[in-house]
Amino acid sequence: MTARIDMLWPDPRETLSDDALVEALAVAGPTVRMNFVSSIDGSATHEGRSGGLSGAADKRHFELLRRVTDVVLVGAGTVRDEGYGPMRVSDASADWRERHGMPRHPVFAIVTGRLDLDPSSPIFTDAPVRPIVVTTARADATAFAGVADVVAVGDEHVDLAGALATIRGMGHAQVLGEGGPSLFGSLLAADLVDELCLTVSPTLEAGDGPRIAHGSVPTAHGMHLGHVLRGGDELLLRYTR
Ligand SMILES: NC(=O)c1ccc[n+]([C@@H]2O[C@H](COP(=O)([O-])OP(=O)(O)OC[C@H]3O[C@@H](n4cnc5c(N)ncnc54)[C@H](OP(=O)(O)O)[C@@H]3O)[C@@H](O)[C@H]2O)c1
Repeated sequence: MTARIDMLWPDPRETLSDDALVEALAVAGPTVRMNFVSSIDGSATHEGRSGGLSGAADKRHFELLRRVTDVVLVGAGTVRDEGYGPMRVSDASADWRERHGMPRHPVFAIVTGRLDLDPSSPIFTDAPVRPIVVTTARADATAFAGVADVVAVGDEHVDLAGALATIRGMGHAQVLGEGGPSLFGSLLAADLVDELCLTVSPTLEAGDGPRIAHGSVPTAHGMHLGHVLRGGDELLLRYTR
C-alpha cells in the first residue's frame, strides 16, 4: 500500500498523489538537490546505514525524487556502505519518465578519488544507463572506461564545480545528491547546493552517527523553507536557497 503523505504547509492538503508530490517538488533550470534522512537528534545513520532511518513515507518520497531527476550523484563512501546496486527506478517511475520525454532511468554518477569501486560490479554491468565515474585527473580510471563515462576534474581532489559543469554539458540539468555527508560537505564548501530535502525520522538515536553534512564551509548557508510534508510520524522538509 502506498504510504500516505499530506502537505502541512504552505498549502494544506491530504493524501497527495504521486503527481501532486512531483508537482510540489518541481524545479526550473539546473539544480543540485540533496536528499537526506536524519533522526530527530541529528544522526544520519542507524547501525551504520541510512536505511534504518527510512520509513514508508521517506521511501515513497525518495523514489519520486529519483523519478524527476536526470542524474543521481552519490559519494563512493555511500555506494560502498549502503551497498548500492544499479540505478534503476520503479516501472511506474520509468513509465512516467518516458511519458515526459526523459530516459527511463536517471544516470548514476559516483564521486570517487581513490576509485575503490569494482568495475565488474552490477552497478556498472547491469546499469540500464551508462553510469558516470567522477574522479580526479590524477586517478587512473582506465578500468572504468569500458563501463562508464569518466569525468576527471581536479588534481588532488575532485573539482566538484568542474564536474557539475561537465555533467551539465552532457545534457543533464537536474542533479539529485543522495549523499553522503562528506560529499554534501564538499558541495556546500563549493557553494553548489540549491536545495535540501530532509526527512526527519521519528527516532532518537544518540550514539556517534554522522550528521548529514561534515567538513568546513566558509560561511553558513541560510535556507528558506519550501514546504512541509507529513507521512505518519515522518516529516519531509524541503529547503531552498
Ligand atoms: N542519512 C542519509 O540520508 C545518508 C545518505 C547517504 C549516506 N549516509 C551514510 O553516510 C555514511 C557514509 O559517509 P561518507 O561521508 O563516507 O560518504 P560519501 O560522502 O558518500 O563518500 C565519501 C567518499 O566520496 C569520495 N569523494 C571524492 N571526492 C570527494 C569530494 N570532493 N568530496 C567528498 N567526497 C569525495 C571519496 O571516495 P573515495 O574514498 O573512493 O576516494 C570519499 O571517500 C554511511 O554510513 C551512509 O550510510 C547517510
